[in-house]
Amino acid sequence: MSSPLPTTNLKPVTSSVDRLQVYRALGTTITVVIAFVFIFIFITGGSPQEQLGSIATQQVSESIAPRNDTVVQAFIAELQQATAHARGKDSEGNWFQQSQWNRDYPCLSRTELPQKYSRRNYVRDLAPNPQWRAVLREYAKLHRTCMRKVGNVTAYFMSRNTSIDCQFTVVDTDEIGIGNRFLVIASAVLYSILTKRVVLLAGNEDFIPEGLLCEPFEGSSWRGFDVNRIVTPYRGGENPFWNNSGSFHSRIDEAVCNGTTFDDYAVANMEIQSWVGQPLSRFYCDVEQENYKNVTFMYLTGMLYFLPKLFTVPSFRPVLEALFPDRMVLTSILREVMLPADEVWTRVQRMEQTYLEDRADRRLGVHMRYFGGRETYDWKFRTIAGRVLQCAVDNNILPPIANHTKRVYHETGSASHRITVFIASLYEGLKNNLTETFLRHPTATGDAVKVVQLSSEGDQKFGKLVYQGALAEVLTLSFSDHLFVTPKSTFSGLAQAYGGVVPWFIDWRDNITESGPCTRAQTVDVCFQAPFDYNIKCPYDHERHDKEISKVYPDIQSCLDVDIWGLQLITKNDLSMEQQG
Ligand SMILES: *[C@@H]1O[C@H](CO)[C@@H](O)[C@H](O)[C@H]1NC(C)=O
Ligand SMILES: *[C@@H]1O[C@H](CO)[C@@H](O)[C@H](O)[C@H]1NC(C)=O
Ligand SMILES: *[C@@H]1O[C@H](CO)[C@@H](O)[C@H](O)[C@H]1NC(C)=O
Ligand SMILES: *[C@@H]1O[C@H](CO)[C@@H](O)[C@H](O)[C@H]1NC(C)=O
Ligand SMILES: *[C@@H]1O[C@H](CO)[C@@H](O)[C@H](O)[C@H]1NC(C)=O
Ligand SMILES: *[C@@H]1O[C@H](CO)[C@@H](O)[C@H](O)[C@H]1NC(C)=O
Ligand SMILES: *[C@@H]1O[C@H](CO)[C@@H](O)[C@H](O)[C@H]1NC(C)=O
Ligand SMILES: *[C@@H]1O[C@H](CO)[C@@H](O)[C@H](O)[C@H]1NC(C)=O
Ligand SMILES: *[C@@H]1O[C@H](CO)[C@@H](O)[C@H](O)[C@H]1NC(C)=O
Repeated sequence: MSSPLPTTNLKPVTSSVDRLQVYRALGTTITVVIAFVFIFIFITGGSPQEQLGSIATQQVSESIAPRNDTVVQAFIAELQQATAHARGKDSEGNWFQQSQWNRDYPCLSRTELPQKYSRRNYVRDLAPNPQWRAVLREYAKLHRTCMRKVGNVTAYFMSRNTSIDCQFTVVDTDEIGIGNRFLVIASAVLYSILTKRVVLLAGNEDFIPEGLLCEPFEGSSWRGFDVNRIVTPYRGGENPFWNNSGSFHSRIDEAVCNGTTFDDYAVANMEIQSWVGQPLSRFYCDVEQENYKNVTFMYLTGMLYFLPKLFTVPSFRPVLEALFPDRMVLTSILREVMLPADEVWTRVQRMEQTYLEDRADRRLGVHMRYFGGRETYDWKFRTIAGRVLQCAVDNNILPPIANHTKRVYHETGSASHRITVFIASLYEGLKNNLTETFLRHPTATGDAVKVVQLSSEGDQKFGKLVYQGALAEVLTLSFSDHLFVTPKSTFSGLAQAYGGVVPWFIDWRDNITESGPCTRAQTVDVCFQAPFDYNIKCPYDHERHDKEISKVYPDIQSCLDVDIWGLQLITKNDLSMEQQG
């Protein structure tokens, strides 16, 4: 599964920053043309002659189908039409002042984040996706047009108003960690864009505190639905404001059977007395989605990432395939929609400048999460420390330690490399072990290894400052060339997805005689843990009903045994620059 890395220099990829700025300045048509040229350059990795030699031996990523621009253009036209409907008789007006809005809602990471990814030495950065950007721009117009028209959206909801031709998704979670929280939002954002719904965050400080994420859609806020928590959280049961998706699906059956129609104003993915954590399986069907189109408000809540299953909805697939031929959809959403707010970003910059920005040639990020807390930690951390070191050495990410204490020089006499290991963990055992190991012994290659860990909270905590710190650590991890992650951990998953890297799972199982200390992941995508079904459950879709999802859609596969039960998208371009050593 794992492929060793070279110890020699690889040419860093050229920065994508200038290009990104160019895109912003140019019109859409020119952008698209130029983008294809650049995408070609990206895929071949800079100067073709120079790179061919080193890339020839690596497992070159599968060739990626070209985007179907017809489909994207048609979808953009649909978004524009939705905006026109929302606007109604009103003229477009010039109430939206982009420069003023950007002054009022600054977001440094929007321009500064891309540089952190493009400067990595062992990861090629994601090719720009101008079609996705164009979709986001149109979606932002829909968002601000609707929000301006409805005024107080909570009051609009409570009065069961439908006078404005706009629909909404309200996203919410229970008290869960930042990983799950972000992944539920990312799933709801994609669903909302596909269905042309205005996505809103429920509550106020309790769900996503201010000062954690930037406002993603120019000209309107996604915050502020039900700040006083009058109609949310909704936990099922009798309620004048929401119906459950189960009863909604029953009404669909009745309507289909009797040839009648019906009208629900607001539906929640909830069942009475049961905390389901994800939309029901029938949510991912065309007939059901056709009916959801008439629902003004949808409450999407839960604790599980559900984005991969959106690729099983036949009416969604063409747009998704056209926008994300490489399936790097989560990375695209995180980097464009879920950008860290300035308070978090300055913390990230300070962490980098003070502890990490030493021009390391190679950066390894390690996130170790001990499910079960201190007890698990005490019992497990020595084993885990051993596996982390062995995995890193086996894969040529860290040099082996030398046998003797005399300093050893690399046989070619080449200058030594600087390698930084950044550890995120609630405990310090791994850091102490690695630090001590590299203090006691020189490395066999003469490379210098520096180990950094900036926090050790002990227990998982909640609240604004904790979330800000956690997001800063997720981002810092995501800047790594290589990532070692904890199976099942969505905090780990968030780091790999922001970074766009295929991580290694450190094996947490007791018996690893066959699998070794770690296993390379199969994708950048995170695992949709414990989906209700691994088969399609669409009673009106006789052709697909009860078929296995991963058979019908090979781009969706079971998560690895080393990780956890679930389904995930298989991303197509592994961006890591590796070769057989
Ligand atoms: C793109 O999609 C359109 C509409 O679905 C289809 O007619 C066309 O054949 C597709 N083109 C390619 C190159 O796949
Ligand atoms: C419905 O919403 C619109 C726009 O906010 C408002 O003008 C109208 O008075 C509302 N109607 C009701 C019945 O609340
Ligand atoms: C919006 O309406 C809701 C429900 O009537 C109310 O609780 C809230 O205070 C209003 N918000 C603003 C900013 O007026
Ligand atoms: C629809 O059909 C069901 C039986 O499938 C029946 O119980 C129900 O009364 C019918 N509803 C209407 C509105 O006709
Ligand atoms: C819930 O469903 C009933 C039909 O059973 C419908 O009359 C009502 O308007 C729905 N409520 C909401 C909030 O959608
Ligand atoms: C949605 O509402 C429209 C207008 O009320 C109606 O014509 C249509 O049949 C409804 N669609 C479904 C799937 O019920
Ligand atoms: C680090 O952990 C490994 C594995 O448990 C152990 O063999 C080694 O002695 C530890 N090193 C230090 C310096 O504590
Ligand atoms: C240590 O030395 C022994 C004997 O010279 C050799 O077999 C072994 O591979 C060396 N280990 C490392 C890590 O260099
Ligand atoms: C560990 O795995 C090996 C190979 O699968 C198996 O033969 C062995 O019995 C296992 N040991 C334990 C303690 O489960």
